[in-house]
Amino acid sequence: MKLFIDSGSLKDIQTLVPLGIIDGITTNPSLLAKEQGNYREILKKICDIVQGPVSAEVVATDFDGMMREGRDLAKIDEHIVVKVPFTRDGVKACKALSDEGTRVNVTLVFSPAQALLAAKVGATFVSPFVGRLDDIATPGMQLIHEIVEIYSHYEFATEILVASTRGPMHIVEAARMGADICTCPPAVIDSLFNHPLTDIGLKKFLADWEKAQAALAGKA
Ligand code: G3P
Repeated sequence: MKLFIDSGSLKDIQTLVPLGIIDGITTNPSLLAKEQGNYREILKKICDIVQGPVSAEVVATDFDGMMREGRDLAKIDEHIVVKVPFTRDGVKACKALSDEGTRVNVTLVFSPAQALLAAKVGATFVSPFVGRLDDIATPGMQLIHEIVEIYSHYEFATEILVASTRGPMHIVEAARMGADICTCPPAVIDSLFNHPLTDIGLKKFLADWEKAQAALAGKA
């Protein structure tokens, strides 16, 4: 399963990418609004660092505006994937941009029916939001299970990009279900590294090694 960072923070991206576990980045207007500076320059820098798909979202809500913004975003770098919201105009723009050869990520997906339509119009990625479903007492991961099942019956090229992840178990469950990608906030990716037994084990290995070295030095 591919791992994307859900962030517009160059600092976080520069910290995590060198670890070798990051395959791409997703941004949205809320995430980019938190960053200082020109959003096009930020997106270009992100593309230079990650060398993988970088989702950049349109803010227009009408078809013509989405096409204009989508084409403009795609010019920033070859790694840009244009993100459109799941609306009628967004679905139409997904089809048109995909037909032009621009990769599209259909976002704000909350039902299997929406995911089916996104695949039918050639979305490269579909982004179901699991955390926001959990927030309203609806099991977000059940949606992933249903989309994986539906897509398994057909030859859709659309990849399932699990979004709005809030903790490590969202990632583990997504991998168990066979989702293609998880996009996660930097803190969630960081939490994947943690296990107390790793820390205890490493401390013991190093202590035993030092003890042995001290004993050897004592004999010399
Ligand atoms: O990028 C879209 C998605 O991952 C947003 O997550 O935490 O704002 O629901 P969140």
